[in-house]
Amino acid sequence: MLIIDIIKKIRYNTTADRIGPDIPFTHWKLFYKKQMLSLCKKKFRFFSATADFRPGAYAIGCSQITIGERVVIRPATMLFGESVSLETSIVIEDDVMMGCGVHIYINNHRFDRLDIPLIDQGYYPDEAVILKKGCWIGANAILLPGVTIGENSVVGAGSVVTKSIPDGVVAAGIPAKVIKKIGQ
Ligand SMILES: CC(C)(COP(=O)(O)OP(=O)(O)OC[C@H]1O[C@@H](n2cnc3c(N)ncnc32)[C@H](O)[C@@H]1OP(=O)(O)O)[C@@H](O)C(=O)NCCC(=O)NCCS
Repeated sequence: MLIIDIIKKIRYNTTADRIGPDIPFTHWKLFYKKQMLSLCKKKFRFFSATADFRPGAYAIGCSQITIGERVVIRPATMLFGESVSLETSIVIEDDVMMGCGVHIYINNHRFDRLDIPLIDQGYYPDEAVILKKGCWIGANAILLPGVTIGENSVVGAGSVVTKSIPDGVVAAGIPAKVIKKIGQ
């Protein structure tokens, strides 16, 4: 019985559309650059040759996530990109910087009704999250479904981004608001 469970676990681990510490049979590869690149190129919709996915980070629905040049996905980050409707659910363009512990979500549970449990109500439609070229997302920021972070914009640490942020600004807080325009 135990043997069957172990075989099932290995099969799930090697085929799952996800990467993370909860998938130990592939997670170890993230400690070695060549292995990391070959795993990520296989799993993600697009994974640049100059990107890095560090041990301790999670991605769910890898086949719907694209990661551009020189992007580093750091420990405790959660890219929750599994979508029933979008081909590409999370886009991280070239030269995006992200601190540790950034969380990105592309959908919400439905909560329209009181007569059935929330867990049985399904989801609202998925909405893609896009990080435009050269933006910087501070540590532990949370990006909610449908937001775009503008080119070269900065999101402060610990912010909760509920609406899209334009190009070239600094936004921070809960909810994140523009606090300054860069270069002015
Ligand atoms: C946003 C950030 C870059 C600072 O930008 P800044 O332009 O120098 O901003 P300032 O320090 O002048 O702060 C401007 C205002 O925004 C507020 N603010 C700054 N960062 C904030 C944050 N993360 N959340 C909420 N408010 C913030 C300040 O308190 C200040 O408010 P006040 O005007 O009422 O006093 C910085 O605070 C930050 O969050 N850095 C992220 C660090 C990080 O995650 N590093 C990981 C390395 S990848």
